[in-house]
Amino acid sequence: MSSAPDLSPVTGLAGAGESRAWRLETPGGGAVGVLKLDAPDQKVNVLSQLVLDELWTLLERLPHLGLAGLVVTSGKPRTFIAGADIREIQAIADPEEGAQKAARGQAIFQRLAALPFPTLAAIDGLCLGGGTELALACRYRVASDFERTFLGLPEVRLGILPGFGGSTRLPRLIGLPAALDLILTGKTVDAARAYKLALVDDVLPKEDFVARAVRWLHLRLDMAAFERTRAERRRRRAGPPAWALEGNPLGRAYVFAQARKNVLRETHGHYPAPLKVLEILPATMRGPIPEALAIEAEAVGELLVTPEHKNLTSIFFLTEAAKKDPPTPRALDVRAVGVLGAGVMGGGIAFVLSDAGIDVRLKDVAADAVGKGLRAAYDTYEKRVRRRRLKPAARDRKMALIAGTLDYSGFRRLDAVIEAIVEKMDVKQNALAEIEVRLPEHAVLMTNTSSLDVDVMAERLVRPERLAGLHFFNPVDRMPLVEIIVGRRTGPVATETALALARRLGKTPVVVKNAPGFLVNRILSPYLNEGLHLFREGVHIEALDRTMVDFGMPMGPLRLLDEIGLDVADKVAHILGAAFGDRMDPAGVLEPMVQGGRLGRKGNLGFYRYRGKETTPDPAVYPLADRPSRDVIQAGPDAWRERMVLAMVNEAARCLEEEIVESPAQVDLAMIMGTGFPPFRGGLLRHADVLGLPVVVERCRALATVYGARFEPCGLLVRMAQDGYVFRPEFARAQPVVAIAGTSSAR
Ligand code: NAI
Repeated sequence: MSSAPDLSPVTGLAGAGESRAWRLETPGGGAVGVLKLDAPDQKVNVLSQLVLDELWTLLERLPHLGLAGLVVTSGKPRTFIAGADIREIQAIADPEEGAQKAARGQAIFQRLAALPFPTLAAIDGLCLGGGTELALACRYRVASDFERTFLGLPEVRLGILPGFGGSTRLPRLIGLPAALDLILTGKTVDAARAYKLALVDDVLPKEDFVARAVRWLHLRLDMAAFERTRAERRRRRAGPPAWALEGNPLGRAYVFAQARKNVLRETHGHYPAPLKVLEILPATMRGPIPEALAIEAEAVGELLVTPEHKNLTSIFFLTEAAKKDPPTPRALDVRAVGVLGAGVMGGGIAFVLSDAGIDVRLKDVAADAVGKGLRAAYDTYEKRVRRRRLKPAARDRKMALIAGTLDYSGFRRLDAVIEAIVEKMDVKQNALAEIEVRLPEHAVLMTNTSSLDVDVMAERLVRPERLAGLHFFNPVDRMPLVEIIVGRRTGPVATETALALARRLGKTPVVVKNAPGFLVNRILSPYLNEGLHLFREGVHIEALDRTMVDFGMPMGPLRLLDEIGLDVADKVAHILGAAFGDRMDPAGVLEPMVQGGRLGRKGNLGFYRYRGKETTPDPAVYPLADRPSRDVIQAGPDAWRERMVLAMVNEAARCLEEEIVESPAQVDLAMIMGTGFPPFRGGLLRHADVLGLPVVVERCRALATVYGARFEPCGLLVRMAQDGYVFRPEFARAQPVVAIAGTSSAR
């Protein structure tokens, strides 16, 4: 082995500030260099232009330093590399430019792959997208056993594909089926799973990780001869057993056909990126690397200019922003929370709290309800254990954080209480007043009401400023949205504590004003009601639901009503009907259904009949379709969808008009996170922009002449259309930004 190389050129270079992001060290003056990425002024490492350019320069010099090996690692505590710089990619406007950017990244990683000595990516913490692609360009990869070490290629979630060599290298390393599973879903895997997939060569303890990685590489170097033994080569080439399938063209064709079927089932063809992956992989997974890379770069270029990519990226930024804005300097440090009511919602809330490591006291008036709530939390953990996302010991540890109770014992120690009892004003008022006096001075109260007035609820409190709304969606563990409801008297500590808590639970909070239906249910209500009108006019259950599934909603309106529970939906419809008058008059279908004992999914009978895994529309409800209209039926899905979608757009515009929510972007985020509005469309109001606001207004007016005043476009819509504004001006960068109605829009 050669003696310690003269490292002055590179260390000098880093020290002199020529490389601001990368730093080369040779621990103990050894022959293995450690190249550390520590992007300046950033909390996590991303592969910005600067970082990549500096890497390119460094890689030019590295072969001349007499190194015997190189460990690439990160100087950040919790991330290796979080990916490419999404802001930089988002600015790309034509496919050529996109392909060129990808080709540039590929060339840099090719240079890394071509270094004349073994390289090792030492991954401690999050490793995503371009970070994984960099690791793939190294000869070896090791991951730390840190609980936050995850590897993945989430590009498809942003409507693109891995374009810095990832699509080319991953199938070669771990085999086609496993590579497809990672690339098509964008999911991440922990270190243990990555090792099983042969995505990493070893898992090392987090403690002294880099030193261990250096020793690991040293060992490989010392065993240089060993490395080339047949056994080693076979393992690397053979990978996991599933490779057998792709060894022949028929097997490969089968794998691709299955994958395509899955993608179409999941996405209904709305997402071009996974289909593009399936289009290029047959060519890029084999043959000469440079040719594969060229195909990959061109594909990325094409995807970078699709509206789906722009829309998904905008949602990503909104979600990121919701984690920080508005800030919460006055939030309490919440350690223990009381949950009142151990029903569907209380049980779910206890689950998410305990999952975040927070102590929970789950109180109900009925012993069997407490038991059920605990059971529900346990079952949710158990599901994760079965899917190997959680160790049984972790499940037990988290469950131990939840204590069931029938009295107020232990409430003196709580920092907050979340109320999730029956939706009745006087019951909630009494319960909150009763708790208030049992809590310490500093504690805040939160209500999970879905429709009641938070100001009225606070009336019997000694300190009403302590109460805020914290509106979760069902099922709590899966729905990412939480509405933070700020009443007239809600104080900043309560608001900020609710916000901070929602974030800590991994939820996306949206701050809304205290008004009937708050934001999401209010917009959803006219949509569901329009679905019911269409049902009454004779549109068949399945045809109606399919219309919205084809649009991209996770399920159609009638199926959603079944899920919500027809009794609950009917109650909400009446509350909102009373609050907003004619335009939300209930279509009058739910009431007779509930009276006839149809409660929806929970009673196995609603618009559909639920038997085991089978779900079939129930023709017995068709007598309720008592206003058949041949015109409506013949108008077909496009016309039905227009009615349902415009009903939402109009109501969303009203919410902005009344300043229920701060901005159109917040509406879009809330609808995607709270209802599953198709993310590839960028949100409800983004969709309205794409339709064109003048068209929206004209169509609303036309519908109003046929179906009545509920379609009359609201003032804000009319003004915006007249003056040429759009809801989401960030999509049209060339347009000047002008402020209107408390929101910013562009001409
Ligand atoms: P649920 O009926 O499943 O559970 C309510 C629980 O509260 C029952 O176990 C009951 O025994 C208990 N309870 C009643 N009075 C109590 C008291 N004084 N002290 C302690 N416990 C008491 O109801 P669910 O569906 O969980 O709803 C709870 C709240 O969450 C309601 O305000 C509802 O509007 C709201 N919500 C419901 C959603 C849903 O989809 N189910 C979605 C979002 C909010």
